[in-house]
Amino acid sequence: MKRILSLLALCCLLVPMSNLSAKDVFVNTPKTTLMLSVNEGSTPRIHYYGSRINAGQAQEIYDAMSINYDAYPAFGRNSYDETALSVTHADGNMSTELAVTGSRQEGDLTIISLKDKKYDFYVDLYYKANDKSDVIETWTVIRNGEKKPIRLEQYASGVMTLRQEGAWITHFHGTWGAEAQMTEEPLTAGLKNIVCHDGVRGGMDDRAEVMISLDGKPQENSGRVIGAALCWTGNYKLRLETRGKYRHTLIAGIDDLHTAYTLKPGESFQTPELALTYSEEGKGGVSRAFHRWGRNVKLHNGHGLREILLNSWEGVYMNVNQEVCEQMMDGIKELGGELFVVDDGWFGRKYRRTDDTQGLGDWITDTEKLPNGVPALLKAAEDRGLKFGIWIEPEMTNSKSELFEAHPDWVVAHPTRELSKGRGGTQLVLDMSNPKVQDFVFGIVDNLVKENPKLHYIKWDCNMSMNNYGSSYLTSDKQSHLVVDYHRGLRSTLERIRAKYPDLVIQLCASGGGRVNWGFMPYFDEFWVSDDTDAQQRLFIQWGTSHFFPTMAMAQHVSASPNHQTHRVIPLKFRFDVAMTGRLGMEMKPSDLNDREREYAKKAVAFYKEIRPIVQLGDQYRLLSPYEGNGFCSEMFVSEDKSEAVFFCYKFEHYVDLHTPRWHMAGLDPNATYRLNEFECAEREHYFEGKTFSGKFLMETGLDAYLSRQFSSRVIRLKKI
Ligand code: DGJ
Repeated sequence: MKRILSLLALCCLLVPMSNLSAKDVFVNTPKTTLMLSVNEGSTPRIHYYGSRINAGQAQEIYDAMSINYDAYPAFGRNSYDETALSVTHADGNMSTELAVTGSRQEGDLTIISLKDKKYDFYVDLYYKANDKSDVIETWTVIRNGEKKPIRLEQYASGVMTLRQEGAWITHFHGTWGAEAQMTEEPLTAGLKNIVCHDGVRGGMDDRAEVMISLDGKPQENSGRVIGAALCWTGNYKLRLETRGKYRHTLIAGIDDLHTAYTLKPGESFQTPELALTYSEEGKGGVSRAFHRWGRNVKLHNGHGLREILLNSWEGVYMNVNQEVCEQMMDGIKELGGELFVVDDGWFGRKYRRTDDTQGLGDWITDTEKLPNGVPALLKAAEDRGLKFGIWIEPEMTNSKSELFEAHPDWVVAHPTRELSKGRGGTQLVLDMSNPKVQDFVFGIVDNLVKENPKLHYIKWDCNMSMNNYGSSYLTSDKQSHLVVDYHRGLRSTLERIRAKYPDLVIQLCASGGGRVNWGFMPYFDEFWVSDDTDAQQRLFIQWGTSHFFPTMAMAQHVSASPNHQTHRVIPLKFRFDVAMTGRLGMEMKPSDLNDREREYAKKAVAFYKEIRPIVQLGDQYRLLSPYEGNGFCSEMFVSEDKSEAVFFCYKFEHYVDLHTPRWHMAGLDPNATYRLNEFECAEREHYFEGKTFSGKFLMETGLDAYLSRQFSSRVIRLKKI
């Protein structure tokens, strides 16, 4: 009896408010529900996140004593777990105790208003449900109603919590040339931090996206999985706290290290969005929800097809000039490409950009290389029926530049210390918290377009971390605002650019994929996945990247063989087949291809044009992971109406006598019959040209598509008949 009584007492502690009087809030997407309780005078609680439920099922959730966790835990009172918010109030009190004052639903927004029980300190929790995908975005608006400034020490965007034994996490880390490397591991007791401290490039090293698989080891197309992505361009921290074996809490937001933010009386702070989804179709279901959300909501121009381009970087590096660019234009034109992009090296006069030690910031043509300037390059492209794009690195300068000579106070620097420099031993970061710098950066794009109204495309690069944490623009009491205000300044500059130039195609690049984060995507059409263009390694990098980012935004270029980064020799077909799963491009001198290769490249570009709508706008199904370790990989894309699909499989390692796997497709209409066409099949056995199969057969029984050698690959197009 005593035991029963103490159990009851424990239950009361865990469920502090009466279930019956609880006001339940449902944030619904077509297939999911997030359920919270909001009772005036109490903390808001998360009770459920999973497949869609109706209001009548709320009692079941309470009766099962489901999750019941504070939706926005604040530091200072009962805060033995990780907290989302920590504030030093005007009188020095470090504790905060938030209680609900009201909640409302406005269209797709749910807003829960909270106030500190003793202080004029307010937090609104926002939840936005997307009706086209199953993504919910959550963020907060924090307001100081006190009479003096307060200090935000920790101000996360959102919280998600679950109880589940045997949950796993999938996350991505990497470095220059090896981005988005996937790690999958069980969640065990303790705290796991996923962080970015780069300062400038919010996708370098750890990525701000995680999946949590509820049914053990993550599967591609089955099992319950929660996906979470923090949409913030700067430093972040995703904390995953596991208590015992069951309770896992994710708290994600702007990094809470060296970022204390002061709010004056009446000021507010809006945190970046945390995007969440839940799927019962495995990791692939989470990916497809994020891809759809990207195309419909978050990515700039998410519905337009991306062009096939040639970028000059790996072809000639900084040795660009009118003649060599025209040769490359002729080359890509002959192959069927649509756009030519001149990369680094076209600018600088006093400090010519002949290598990476000088010139950044001086965005004037190097007339020794390009006597008639950018307009002549653009005209040469136009004469050939190509569109034209250009590279810039607007947030940066070199100590050897006219810009730095004129404005030494525009760089991120500490006034009393020697400058720590980056790339080329001279690179420095401009202080984007300074409105004058913001105007300058806006002006770079504005001037280029004014001078070249037909400019179609810009590659926006960024090749340095924030060193020298200090700003001569921010006052001494606001130095800890630097990283946040840098990114607020960057975002408002990008907003200005987008307001004026909505149709300009802009590629996001940061030493490769160093800025791949949803915080950037509203301003960019696509991103450069990695400076590593080795097709074998790209299989891994692209596999990881596609977990959260749509393939239409993934710039994937065929480069020379031997590869410039790894010196590996890989046949042209394999290189094309790997690049074709995203936005296809090339990054080499086409004149380096021999006649046979040139003919092949023409066919590949023409074929890509046919499958482009399926790859860029269809649903992606990852099938066999390169991380499985047997040297095989496969994935496919299916059009929304399931009438067309394209299947890719690769063999990148040859183990003696290891059989090719049987390839099981996914995402097809089981009741439909599909006709198969192989693109340039190099295999003599198991040739599927013209054969027909039911969708059910292809998914359940699968194909024995033999791959004979290392670097053999197949691309099979499927059409419903
Ligand atoms: C780094 C980028 O990732 C490359 O593609 C190239 O644009 C170089 N910068 C140019 O400096």
